[in-house]
Formats: sequence, C-alpha cells, structure tokens
Amino acid sequence: MKKIQELYTTSDNEKERSAAEIAIEMVAVSKFYQTKMVKAINDVTLRIKCGECVTITGPSGSGKSTLLRLIASLDQPTQGQIVVDGVPLAGLSGDALAAFRRVHVGMIFQGFRLLPALTVLENVMAPLLPYTAAKPLRAQALEMLARVRLAPRASHLPGELSGGEQQRVAIARALVANPRVLLADEPTGSLDTETAHAIMSLLQDVQAETAMTLLVVTHDARIAARAQYRIQMEDGCLKEDIG
Ligand SMILES: Nc1ncnc2c1ncn2[C@@H]1O[C@H](COP(=O)(O)OP(=O)(O)OP(=O)(O)O)[C@@H](O)[C@H]1O
Ligand SMILES: [Mg+2]
Repeated sequence: MKKIQELYTTSDNEKERSAAEIAIEMVAVSKFYQTKMVKAINDVTLRIKCGECVTITGPSGSGKSTLLRLIASLDQPTQGQIVVDGVPLAGLSGDALAAFRRVHVGMIFQGFRLLPALTVLENVMAPLLPYTAAKPLRAQALEMLARVRLAPRASHLPGELSGGEQQRVAIARALVANPRVLLADEPTGSLDTETAHAIMSLLQDVQAETAMTLLVVTHDARIAARAQYRIQMEDGCLKEDIG
C-alpha cells in the first residue's frame, strides 16, 4: 500500500512538469488554534493534480473542514505554503483575495450558508452578480438549478425548502461560476441515498465536462468509493490511502 505522501508528492520526473498541472499543493501545512490549544491540521503535505476527483473521509473533528477552508483561503495556515491553481495563497489580500475565490474556487459549505432573504435563484446568482450582467447570469443560474432538479423552486426562499433542497441550491451556487477547483464539504450529507448518488454523478459530470478538480469531504463510504483517490484524515494528519 502506497503512503499518501507518495501518492500525491511529485516524483523527480514529474517535478520537471509545469506547476500548472498541480491544482492543489500544500507543503508542511499546519493550523493551530493557539488560544484553544488545538492542532486542527498537523504538518500536511499534499499535491492533487488538475482534473482529479479526490474524497476525504475521517472522524468528526479530524480537520476535514479546516483543510477545505485553508485551500479556499477562508482561513490562513499557521505554518506552511498553499498553492491553488498556480496561485500562492500567502501573498493574497484585499481585491486579489476576493478575485482568487471568485475565479478559482467554488465552495459547498457544510451548513449550506444560503442567504435567507434572497430567493433560490438570487442565491445561485449571488456570487457573480456584481461581476456579470444579470440577464445571462439568470439563464446560467436557472440552467444550474435545473441540473439539481430545483427549477420549479427558483422563486422560493431558502426557509421554504427542505434540508436536501437547500443543499442542492448550495451546490448549484458553487457550480454556477465554473470554478477550476470545487471544494465540497459533505455535499450529500442531507440527501437520501438515491439523490446523494445523483448529486455525486452531477459533480463528476461537471468535472469531466470542465476538467475541474473536485475535492469532496464525506462520511459516506459509498460516495468516497466513487473517487479516483481517497484520503483519510485523523487528528489533523493524512493517513494512508485506503483505496
Ligand atoms: N475556530 C476554532 N477555534 C478552535 N478550535 C477550532 C476552531 N475551528 C475548528 N476547531 C477545532 O479544529 C478541529 C478540526 O475541526 P474541523 O471542523 O476541521 O473538523 P471536521 O473533520 O470537519 O469535523 P466534522 O466531521 O464534525 O465536520 C476540531 O477539533 C475543532 O474543534
Ligand atoms: Mg466538517
């Protein structure tokens, strides 16, 4: 069984290849919450190539959401370097940081984070509305809602939807901007088995169509098994590949 570091660390031959082929690179990354004495991420080194589908499983509290937040630059590491889609995150601030999140990454949050006062359609349009003309964006958002089978709910408020429906809106919102890297935190956690597999198929279809890189956190072994590569986390560290 190959160690996870070997699976994801570039070999000597591969080092000669362009860095652009690596979608996510983390080198010796740690995240400590000093005031709480918590080591959420502990010396993680990881390289994921462009266009790959990778799933992360691990017990509650093992650092999965923290890892995704660091890659999305929603949080900063205490130590180590992170490069996403060729962009070193350490130097980003202000407009550059906002542009990085808008252009390079899509995030499906564990708690959905829909805006309660906006309709379903407006929620899906929200990330791009200040940057893209509303008319074509509306059509794009409606098309994405149709793909998660929620077009009939476009004018509803999130509070009028079931948990699984809210989750599907969050998925449509993350996909509408065609991100290069999609970070999905338990994207099927509130869905029945059939819908969960349909959503995973949708994510993988979009991945194949757009050559997007897909990183999915899941507690569901059957969803995890559908990925090319699987990572297990424990106590903030990567464990050996289970595939
Ligand atoms: N802001 C914070 N301050 C202190 N500790 C934190 C903070 N955020 C997360 N932690 C701790 O970091 C660890 C990792 O949390 P994280 O949310 O990444 O876990 P997880 O693997 O996503 O768990 P789950 O499967 O329950 O979602 C946990 O022990 C958590 O209590
Ligand atoms: Mg989590």
